Amino acid sequence: MSLHDLMRADLTSLEPYTLPPDVEALSRRIGRPVVKLDSNENPYGAAPGVAGALAGADAAHYPDAGATVLRHELSQYLGVEPERIVCSVGGDEMIDLLLRLFLEPGDSIVDCTPSFMMYELSTIYNHGTVIRVPRDACFAVDVDAVEAALESRTKVIFLCNPNNPTGNVTPREDVIRLLEMGRIVILDEAYAEFAGFTHVDLAPRYPNLVVLRTMSKWAALAGIRLGYAVVAPEVREEMAKIKSPYNVGIAAQVAGIASLRERDYLMANVRRILEERDRLYTLLREWGRGAVYPSRTNFLYWTTGGVDARGLREALIEQGVLVRAFPQPVQALRFTAGTPEESDILMAALEETYGQLAG
Ligand SMILES: Cc1ncc(COP(=O)(O)O)c(C=O)c1O
Repeated sequence: MSLHDLMRADLTSLEPYTLPPDVEALSRRIGRPVVKLDSNENPYGAAPGVAGALAGADAAHYPDAGATVLRHELSQYLGVEPERIVCSVGGDEMIDLLLRLFLEPGDSIVDCTPSFMMYELSTIYNHGTVIRVPRDACFAVDVDAVEAALESRTKVIFLCNPNNPTGNVTPREDVIRLLEMGRIVILDEAYAEFAGFTHVDLAPRYPNLVVLRTMSKWAALAGIRLGYAVVAPEVREEMAKIKSPYNVGIAAQVAGIASLRERDYLMANVRRILEERDRLYTLLREWGRGAVYPSRTNFLYWTTGGVDARGLREALIEQGVLVRAFPQPVQALRFTAGTPEESDILMAALEETYGQLAG
């Protein structure tokens, strides 16, 4: 029997995930720093207190499995009881844990496409099936189509709000309509601090609501890996049985606490990023190629005007600029809003490469 015969065929048949290129090697090859605008990271770094908190952390002992102090800080930050908060190794792990809890083999989820790729991948990892409900031409969720697509075995509706990669918002009345459908609604608010709103206040009214958040973007802790969710207390109790007990390490716990205590500092950087997002939006509009969409996040979605998005991404890599390509449903790139210098380098690289590919 080969090793592959022992593995799950539904997983080994998956397309390999396109990893970003090795930034160090690319920088050496092109002889200058790489501008990394592909993962919606924060260019201004973590809160000043994070380094000291990490240096003082007790690495020799297992962390508090209940992340008590961190959950207390989050509870103050969000205005919800600590009994409703579960922490995880980034938002990605939370998506996996939720599907592990809710999906029986063959149950389905609804994904309002295009949206965050991990919803579909984690569903496959957890033996579920995916029902795709395409968004309309402006990327609004088609709530009637979601309702029509529901099957008896549909357990979860994913709603990314604001949406990654398109940056747009689903109105609150549509969120409520989705909640009224009686399935678990995983409301992914990864970009809430940039958008300036949340629907976490709906949690006590709708026990089927899960609000997913991350410290990767606004708090610049992407490398630390810290996410969390607001869930009904009974969901939290059941999740405690299925997660590995020490999933959130001491580094993530102390970095998260330090960040929440310095949120004024972090929110000032969020405002700088939003200003730069708006400047980049204007630069792209004035340039006039392709089409850029309004965004409530720290990134912009730009359709290429038919130019092959993957080809353009490759050409931009040669200019030392990393961005994300989306060939579906239209050829598009996603640009993280970084520093003003980074936007200027991106615009110069687009001018250099676009004409060659547009022909
Ligand atoms: C919409 C959305 N949800 C969740 C995540 C997960 O973030 P992390 O695992 O870094 O917390 C991301 C990261 O890009 C995201 O864009």
